[in-house]
Amino acid sequence: KGLRVSDKGFLNTAVIQSEITYIDGEAGVLRYRGYPIEELAVKSSFLESAYLLIYGSLPTSEQFRIFETEVLHHSIVHSEAEDFFGSFRYDAHPMAMLTSAFAYLGSYYSEANPSLQGQTLFTKGNAASLANMDKQIFRLIGKATTLAAMAYRVRQGRDFVTPPTGLSYTGSFLYQMDHLGEENYVPHPVLVKALDVLFLLHADHELNASCTTVLQTGSSLVDPYSAIAAGCASLYGPLHGGANEAVIRMLISIGSPANVPAFIEAVKKREKVLSGFGHRVYKTTDPRSYIIRKTADEVFKITGTDELLQTAMALHDAAMKDEYFTKRRLYPNVDFCSGLIYRAMGFPMDFFPVLFAVPRVVGWLAHWRQMMLQEGGVKIWRPRQIYVGSGKREYVPMAERA
Ligand code: CMC
Repeated sequence: KGLRVSDKGFLNTAVIQSEITYIDGEAGVLRYRGYPIEELAVKSSFLESAYLLIYGSLPTSEQFRIFETEVLHHSIVHSEAEDFFGSFRYDAHPMAMLTSAFAYLGSYYSEANPSLQGQTLFTKGNAASLANMDKQIFRLIGKATTLAAMAYRVRQGRDFVTPPTGLSYTGSFLYQMDHLGEENYVPHPVLVKALDVLFLLHADHELNASCTTVLQTGSSLVDPYSAIAAGCASLYGPLHGGANEAVIRMLISIGSPANVPAFIEAVKKREKVLSGFGHRVYKTTDPRSYIIRKTADEVFKITGTDELLQTAMALHDAAMKDEYFTKRRLYPNVDFCSGLIYRAMGFPMDFFPVLFAVPRVVGWLAHWRQMMLQEGGVKIWRPRQIYVGSGKREYVPMAERA
């Protein structure tokens, strides 16, 4: 009663006030806590930006030292997790494993579950409660890379690698993924830096489907591990975390730069979609795509280029010049190049959503923390529907039904 409007897809529904990320889709602006993404990508690092997103300001060197130490310290997972990963089929999708692993992790830390411990577990102005919250944040960011690397290695039938000491967050991640027992192995610094930039760019994008899922789940006061698992499940879907994989599949189907004009014509006839172009919010070039393009150039200098890359560049240039796309304000988004970089770095396509989820844990946690600490406490998210089903009906016993 009294409900008149339904907002399918939440195109025009704001459910929360937020101080975290600002997007102006018309102007192509993205800022974390007020800082332009272009500036952070050049001057900051993924972990520093993670601190910024979660706590609201850039850390002092001492604050950063503690944050980095805690996150890296918490990257080690219980040895029982090896049995957990070992129980998956050899061809399990890495996102299915990662999603389950976050929920599994929660089973170790019931002290983080407000629904078990009482509603005031995470409360503003209570030092013990804030410290408890920080600990879960360190654990989730620290263990995200370890769980992701375990999901990667179990599929290759390789032993798991304990997180190393002395490497950065992304350095440790690449080490855990790629280390094959070589003595003094360190991942290539250019690739470590490229992954750090990609992680920074993917750390948050305000209330997308997965972030909304984390908040909706967290609003029941469940533990943050379960809420992050729910976010992961949402990101798994092809409409959210799968677009960069779709770009690679599209480029493989095009085959070579010579076939680009025919593909463009097929898109214009609506027989095909140009994956990696267009965005619900950005009606100009996604600001992240400029930075990604630069990062791609640096990575390709190390990994070399191939026909797929040349096809990608020919497609990009053709679409940018074509009135069909410019008139509809279809410009490259973050996914056009990210999949190309991940592919060049040797990651399989179905691992791409994992590479999106790991840094996005930071954004999910920033929003979750903000919601838990908001004035007046958390209100459970319970939207309404407009019922359009039948009116009251008589139950007919099965034997009498036609
Ligand atoms: N290729 C061809 N035509 C397109 C495309 C595309 N990629 N995207 C939109 N259009 C056309 C669409 O057909 C429509 O044409 P018309 O007005 O003649 O009917 C017009 O452009 C407006 O599109 P829309 O459907 O209203 O746009 P939307 O905001 O609903 O959709 C989108 C946004 C991202 C779903 C869509 O652009 C798309 O499917 N892109 C390809 C998939 C992709 O790259 N997704 C990743 C998005 S970025 C992820 C992130 O930020 O995390």
